[in-house]
Amino acid sequence: MPVPPDFQLLTRRLVLRAFTAADAQRVFEIRSHWDVTRMLVFPAYPPVLDDITAWLEEHAAEWRAGTAYRFAMVVDGKVIGCADVDEIRDGSGELGYWLDPDYWGQGLASEAAAAVHRFATGTLGLRRLEAGHAADNPASGRILVRLGFRWVEDRTVWYRSRQAVVARRYYVFDGNGEP
Ligand SMILES: CC(C)(COP(=O)(O)OP(=O)(O)OC[C@H]1O[C@@H](n2cnc3c(N)ncnc32)[C@H](O)[C@@H]1OP(=O)(O)O)[C@@H](O)C(=O)NCCC(=O)NCCS
Repeated sequence: MPVPPDFQLLTRRLVLRAFTAADAQRVFEIRSHWDVTRMLVFPAYPPVLDDITAWLEEHAAEWRAGTAYRFAMVVDGKVIGCADVDEIRDGSGELGYWLDPDYWGQGLASEAAAAVHRFATGTLGLRRLEAGHAADNPASGRILVRLGFRWVEDRTVWYRSRQAVVARRYYVFDGNGEP
């Protein structure tokens, strides 16, 4: 069954809803933090507002096609980050998240990731999720392991933000890990 565009996930502290192009400036602010964007594989640093707007404008079509669901993490009406499942095909998808540093260390990424994980495996019925993080980003690994992901391998990957090859740890959730 299609997921309506106004679908929301509610957690204890967060509303998770689809992004709109009106969120571009806020996403630009968050992506302007080097400590955020250096941990992401694909985005450029410094960010470019037009690129972010174009990225946000793709979301509705991905959502309709069922290939990616990217949720804005919202607190008191303010966008503070993103938690998404993308690369959806053949019962599989990829989990990701990033958060404004002002909100780190409060369990908010864990809360959002858990909700999107439930959405992906429950509502969407995905049987397998992949995820990865830079080897120098252990906080991200903690989130995955607590959700029951298991480490499968390390690889080196080109990070556009860092303009460098970076060691990256890869994980899989297929129900066989330790939750
Ligand atoms: C990674 C990120 C999403 C974590 O957000 P957060 O809301 O601070 O995370 P949480 O508060 O839910 O904590 C996650 C876990 O990491 C742990 N942690 C936090 N900082 C840590 C650090 N420097 N080293 C090791 N573990 C750390 C926390 O203790 C927690 O583990 P626990 O629940 O077992 O105690 C956030 O730092 C971020 O957006 N970073 C930049 C973008 C990014 O890295 N995205 C992920 C790309 S793979």
